[in-house]
Amino acid sequence: MKLVVTGATGFVGQEVIRLALQNKSITSVVALARKEVPVPNHTASEADTSKLKSIILEDWGQPYPEQVLEQLKGVNACVWTLAVTPTKSKDVDFEEVTKICHDYTVNGLQSMTSVAEKPFRFIYTSGVTVERDQTKTLPFLQDYRLMRGRVENAVIDIAGKHAPAVEIAITKPGGIEGPGHPKSEALTSIWAQFGSTPWVHVSELAAAMIEQGLSGVSQETLWGNDLQKIGSSILKAEDYAPMD
Ligand SMILES: NC(=O)c1ccc[n+]([C@@H]2O[C@H](COP(=O)([O-])OP(=O)(O)OC[C@H]3O[C@@H](n4cnc5c(N)ncnc54)[C@H](OP(=O)(O)O)[C@@H]3O)[C@@H](O)[C@H]2O)c1
Repeated sequence: MKLVVTGATGFVGQEVIRLALQNKSITSVVALARKEVPVPNHTASEADTSKLKSIILEDWGQPYPEQVLEQLKGVNACVWTLAVTPTKSKDVDFEEVTKICHDYTVNGLQSMTSVAEKPFRFIYTSGVTVERDQTKTLPFLQDYRLMRGRVENAVIDIAGKHAPAVEIAITKPGGIEGPGHPKSEALTSIWAQFGSTPWVHVSELAAAMIEQGLSGVSQETLWGNDLQKIGSSILKAEDYAPMD
Protein backbone atom coordinates (compact mmCIF):
# COMPACT_ATOMS: atom_id res chain seq x y z
CA MET A 1 0.00 0.00 0.00
CA LYS A 2 1.08 3.53 -0.76
CA LEU A 3 0.22 5.88 2.13
CA VAL A 4 0.33 9.69 2.18
CA VAL A 5 0.64 11.48 5.50
CA THR A 6 -0.02 15.19 5.93
CA GLY A 7 0.81 17.15 9.07
CA ALA A 8 3.84 14.90 8.76
CA THR A 9 6.09 17.03 11.01
CA GLY A 10 3.48 17.17 13.80
CA PHE A 11 2.81 15.15 16.94
CA VAL A 12 0.29 12.73 15.37
CA GLY A 13 1.75 12.73 11.84
CA GLN A 14 5.23 11.71 13.04
CA GLU A 15 3.75 8.75 14.91
CA VAL A 16 1.78 7.65 11.85
CA ILE A 17 5.01 7.71 9.85
CA ARG A 18 6.99 5.87 12.57
CA LEU A 19 4.48 3.01 12.69
CA ALA A 20 3.98 2.95 8.91
CA LEU A 21 7.72 2.49 8.34
CA GLN A 22 7.69 -0.72 10.40
CA ASN A 23 4.50 -2.04 8.78
CA LYS A 24 5.39 -4.56 6.08
CA SER A 25 2.02 -4.13 4.30
CA ILE A 26 2.97 -0.52 3.50
CA THR A 27 5.42 -0.28 0.64
CA SER A 28 5.60 3.52 0.31
CA VAL A 29 5.15 6.31 2.87
CA VAL A 30 4.84 9.77 1.32
CA ALA A 31 5.23 12.64 3.79
CA LEU A 32 3.58 15.68 2.23
CA ALA A 33 4.68 18.84 4.05
CA ARG A 34 5.90 22.39 3.59
CA LYS A 35 9.38 21.35 4.70
CA GLU A 36 11.60 18.26 4.64
CA VAL A 37 10.26 15.51 6.93
CA PRO A 38 12.85 13.49 8.88
CA VAL A 39 12.64 9.84 9.94
CA PRO A 40 10.81 10.04 13.30
CA ASN A 41 12.54 9.51 16.67
CA HIS A 42 12.26 5.98 18.09
CA THR A 43 11.76 4.41 14.66
CA ALA A 44 12.44 0.68 15.17
CA SER A 45 15.84 -0.52 13.95
CA GLU A 46 14.14 -3.15 11.75
CA ALA A 47 11.87 -0.52 10.09
CA ASP A 48 12.49 0.11 6.40
CA THR A 49 13.25 3.84 6.38
CA SER A 50 13.92 3.76 2.62
CA LYS A 51 10.11 3.65 2.17
CA LEU A 52 9.86 7.28 3.38
CA LYS A 53 9.67 9.93 0.67
CA SER A 54 9.43 13.57 1.71
CA ILE A 55 7.56 15.75 -0.80
CA ILE A 56 7.36 19.49 -0.35
CA LEU A 57 4.13 21.28 -1.27
CA GLU A 58 4.35 25.06 -1.28
CA ASP A 59 0.79 26.16 -2.08
CA TRP A 60 -1.79 24.02 -0.29
CA GLY A 61 -4.73 26.17 -1.41
CA GLN A 62 -4.49 25.39 -5.15
CA PRO A 63 -4.99 22.13 -7.05
CA TYR A 64 -1.70 20.29 -6.58
CA PRO A 65 0.92 20.91 -9.28
CA GLU A 66 1.66 18.20 -11.86
CA GLN A 67 5.05 17.26 -10.36
CA VAL A 68 3.45 16.63 -6.94
CA LEU A 69 0.50 14.72 -8.44
CA GLU A 70 2.97 12.57 -10.35
CA GLN A 71 4.55 11.47 -7.06
CA LEU A 72 1.16 10.85 -5.41
CA LYS A 73 -0.06 8.73 -8.31
CA GLY A 74 -1.49 5.36 -7.25
CA VAL A 75 -1.89 6.34 -3.59
CA ASN A 76 -4.21 3.97 -1.69
CA ALA A 77 -4.78 5.93 1.50
CA CYS A 78 -4.10 9.27 3.15
CA VAL A 79 -3.91 9.98 6.87
CA TRP A 80 -4.65 13.72 7.09
CA THR A 81 -3.40 15.30 10.33
CA LEU A 82 -2.61 18.80 9.02
CA ALA A 83 -4.50 21.44 11.02
CA VAL A 84 -4.05 24.34 13.37
CA THR A 85 -4.95 22.86 16.77
CA PRO A 86 -7.28 24.80 19.12
CA THR A 87 -4.38 25.89 21.34
CA LYS A 88 -2.25 27.12 18.42
CA SER A 89 -5.28 28.75 16.75
CA LYS A 90 -5.33 31.44 19.45
CA ASP A 91 -2.18 33.00 17.91
CA VAL A 92 -3.40 32.90 14.27
CA ASP A 93 -5.99 35.02 12.49
CA PHE A 94 -9.25 33.01 12.26
CA GLU A 95 -9.47 33.48 8.49
CA GLU A 96 -6.03 31.90 8.14
CA VAL A 97 -6.96 29.08 10.54
CA THR A 98 -10.06 28.38 8.42
CA LYS A 99 -8.00 28.39 5.23
CA ILE A 100 -5.51 25.88 6.67
CA CYS A 101 -8.05 23.60 8.39
CA HIS A 102 -10.86 23.72 5.82
CA ASP A 103 -9.60 24.78 2.40
CA TYR A 104 -6.33 22.82 2.51
CA THR A 105 -8.19 19.64 3.51
CA VAL A 106 -10.87 19.93 0.83
CA ASN A 107 -8.30 20.77 -1.83
CA GLY A 108 -6.04 17.92 -0.65
CA LEU A 109 -8.83 15.35 -0.82
CA GLN A 110 -9.86 16.50 -4.29
CA SER A 111 -6.31 16.62 -5.64
CA MET A 112 -5.38 13.19 -4.27
CA THR A 113 -8.62 11.60 -5.45
CA SER A 114 -7.73 12.60 -9.01
CA VAL A 115 -4.62 10.35 -9.00
CA ALA A 116 -5.46 7.72 -6.35
CA GLU A 117 -6.08 4.00 -6.75
CA LYS A 118 -9.71 3.17 -6.06
CA PRO A 119 -10.97 2.70 -3.46
CA PHE A 120 -9.06 5.64 -2.00
CA ARG A 121 -9.28 5.82 1.79
CA PHE A 122 -9.06 9.26 3.37
CA ILE A 123 -8.57 9.13 7.13
CA TYR A 124 -9.21 12.57 8.61
CA THR A 125 -8.07 13.54 12.11
CA SER A 126 -10.58 15.67 13.95
CA GLY A 127 -11.50 15.90 17.63
CA VAL A 128 -14.25 14.97 20.07
CA THR A 129 -15.38 18.58 20.62
CA VAL A 130 -15.82 19.32 16.89
CA GLU A 131 -19.48 19.95 16.03
CA ARG A 132 -21.06 19.20 12.66
CA ASP A 133 -24.45 20.75 13.47
CA GLN A 134 -24.00 24.37 12.38
CA THR A 135 -27.18 25.49 14.20
CA LYS A 136 -25.75 24.74 17.64
CA THR A 137 -24.58 27.34 20.15
CA LEU A 138 -21.47 26.10 21.91
CA PRO A 139 -20.19 27.21 25.32
CA PHE A 140 -16.51 27.49 24.31
CA LEU A 141 -14.42 27.81 21.14
CA GLN A 142 -17.66 28.03 19.11
CA ASP A 143 -16.21 29.46 15.89
CA TYR A 144 -13.35 26.97 15.80
CA ARG A 145 -15.45 23.91 16.66
CA LEU A 146 -18.13 24.74 14.08
CA MET A 147 -15.49 25.48 11.43
CA ARG A 148 -13.87 22.06 12.01
CA GLY A 149 -17.39 20.61 11.83
CA ARG A 150 -17.75 22.14 8.36
CA VAL A 151 -14.55 20.32 7.38
CA GLU A 152 -16.04 17.01 8.54
CA ASN A 153 -19.24 17.76 6.60
CA ALA A 154 -17.24 18.71 3.49
CA VAL A 155 -15.12 15.54 3.40
CA ILE A 156 -18.21 13.36 3.98
CA ASP A 157 -19.94 15.21 1.14
CA ILE A 158 -17.03 14.77 -1.28
CA ALA A 159 -16.73 11.06 -0.45
CA GLY A 160 -20.48 10.66 -1.01
CA LYS A 161 -20.15 12.17 -4.47
CA HIS A 162 -17.33 9.74 -5.34
CA ALA A 163 -18.79 6.67 -3.59
CA PRO A 164 -17.74 3.88 -3.57
CA ALA A 165 -14.40 5.06 -5.03
CA VAL A 166 -13.59 7.22 -1.98
CA GLU A 167 -14.00 6.04 1.62
CA ILE A 168 -13.84 8.42 4.57
CA ALA A 169 -13.04 7.81 8.22
CA ILE A 170 -13.20 10.72 10.65
CA THR A 171 -11.35 10.14 13.90
CA LYS A 172 -12.59 12.09 16.91
CA PRO A 173 -10.25 11.50 19.85
CA GLY A 174 -10.42 13.51 23.07
CA GLY A 175 -6.93 14.11 24.47
CA ILE A 176 -3.99 12.41 22.80
CA GLU A 177 -1.15 11.36 25.11
CA GLY A 178 2.33 10.52 23.96
CA PRO A 179 5.93 11.73 24.03
CA GLY A 180 5.94 15.34 25.26
CA HIS A 181 2.14 15.25 25.65
CA PRO A 182 1.29 13.90 29.12
CA LYS A 183 -2.29 13.60 30.35
CA SER A 184 -3.53 16.63 32.26
CA GLU A 185 -6.17 16.51 34.96
CA ALA A 186 -7.80 19.74 33.80
CA LEU A 187 -8.25 18.43 30.28
CA THR A 188 -9.42 15.00 31.48
CA SER A 189 -12.49 16.61 33.01
CA ILE A 190 -13.24 18.48 29.76
CA TRP A 191 -12.80 15.45 27.47
CA ALA A 192 -14.77 13.25 29.88
CA GLN A 193 -17.86 15.39 29.22
CA PHE A 194 -17.74 14.33 25.57
CA GLY A 195 -17.05 10.64 25.65
CA SER A 196 -16.23 7.53 27.60
CA THR A 197 -12.53 7.51 26.64
CA PRO A 198 -11.02 10.92 27.43
CA TRP A 199 -7.46 9.99 26.38
CA VAL A 200 -6.04 7.90 23.55
CA HIS A 201 -2.37 7.07 23.22
CA VAL A 202 -0.90 8.59 20.05
CA SER A 203 0.38 5.13 19.01
CA GLU A 204 -3.13 3.65 19.30
CA LEU A 205 -4.57 6.51 17.28
CA ALA A 206 -1.89 6.18 14.59
CA ALA A 207 -2.19 2.39 14.41
CA ALA A 208 -5.98 2.60 14.13
CA MET A 209 -5.78 5.17 11.31
CA ILE A 210 -3.22 3.09 9.39
CA GLU A 211 -5.45 0.03 9.82
CA GLN A 212 -8.47 1.87 8.39
CA GLY A 213 -6.35 2.81 5.38
CA LEU A 214 -5.06 -0.73 4.92
CA SER A 215 -8.15 -2.83 5.55
CA GLY A 216 -10.97 -0.44 4.70
CA VAL A 217 -13.09 1.93 6.72
CA SER A 218 -15.03 0.08 9.43
CA GLN A 219 -17.18 3.08 10.38
CA GLU A 220 -17.33 6.67 9.17
CA THR A 221 -16.84 8.20 12.64
CA LEU A 222 -14.34 6.70 15.05
CA TRP A 223 -14.47 7.98 18.64
CA GLY A 224 -11.83 7.65 21.35
CA ASN A 225 -13.06 4.24 22.53
CA ASP A 226 -13.12 2.90 18.93
CA LEU A 227 -9.60 4.15 18.29
CA GLN A 228 -8.27 2.74 21.55
CA LYS A 229 -9.88 -0.65 20.85
CA ILE A 230 -8.56 -0.93 17.29
CA GLY A 231 -5.13 0.50 18.09
CA SER A 232 -4.50 -1.59 21.21
CA SER A 233 -5.54 -4.78 19.39
CA ILE A 234 -2.82 -4.19 16.77
CA LEU A 235 0.09 -2.91 18.85
CA LYS A 236 2.55 -4.96 20.86
CA ALA A 237 3.97 -3.37 24.03
CA GLU A 238 7.26 -2.56 22.28
CA ASP A 239 5.46 -0.76 19.42
CA TYR A 240 4.22 2.11 21.64
CA ALA A 241 6.13 5.39 21.42
CA PRO A 242 7.97 5.81 24.73
CA MET A 243 6.72 8.67 26.94
CA ASP A 244 10.06 10.55 27.00
N1 LIG B 1 -2.77 17.00 20.07
C1 LIG B 1 -3.92 16.65 20.63
O1 LIG B 1 -4.01 16.40 21.87
C2 LIG B 1 -5.16 16.50 19.79
C3 LIG B 1 -6.35 16.10 20.40
C4 LIG B 1 -7.49 15.88 19.61
C5 LIG B 1 -7.43 16.11 18.24
N2 LIG B 1 -6.25 16.53 17.69
C6 LIG B 1 -6.23 16.78 16.23
O2 LIG B 1 -5.23 15.97 15.64
C7 LIG B 1 -4.70 16.64 14.49
C8 LIG B 1 -3.18 16.66 14.58
O3 LIG B 1 -2.80 17.35 15.76
P1 LIG B 1 -1.27 17.47 16.22
O4 LIG B 1 -1.28 17.57 17.71
O5 LIG B 1 -0.45 16.44 15.54
O6 LIG B 1 -0.89 18.91 15.62
P2 LIG B 1 0.57 19.57 15.43
O7 LIG B 1 1.61 18.81 16.19
O8 LIG B 1 0.40 21.02 15.72
O9 LIG B 1 0.87 19.36 13.89
C9 LIG B 1 0.20 20.11 12.92
C10 LIG B 1 0.77 19.78 11.56
O10 LIG B 1 0.08 20.61 10.60
C11 LIG B 1 1.05 21.28 9.80
N3 LIG B 1 0.60 22.61 9.40
C12 LIG B 1 0.04 23.56 10.19
N4 LIG B 1 -0.14 24.70 9.48
C13 LIG B 1 0.29 24.44 8.21
C14 LIG B 1 0.35 25.21 7.02
N5 LIG B 1 -0.05 26.47 6.97
N6 LIG B 1 0.86 24.61 5.91
C15 LIG B 1 1.29 23.33 5.93
N7 LIG B 1 1.27 22.55 7.04
C16 LIG B 1 0.77 23.10 8.17
C17 LIG B 1 2.27 21.41 10.69
O11 LIG B 1 3.40 21.59 9.83
P3 LIG B 1 4.64 22.57 10.20
O12 LIG B 1 5.56 21.76 11.08
O13 LIG B 1 5.21 22.91 8.88
O14 LIG B 1 4.05 23.76 10.94
C18 LIG B 1 2.26 20.07 11.42
O15 LIG B 1 2.87 19.08 10.63
C19 LIG B 1 -5.36 18.03 14.45
O16 LIG B 1 -6.48 17.99 13.62
C20 LIG B 1 -5.81 18.20 15.90
O17 LIG B 1 -6.88 19.12 16.02
C21 LIG B 1 -5.12 16.73 18.41
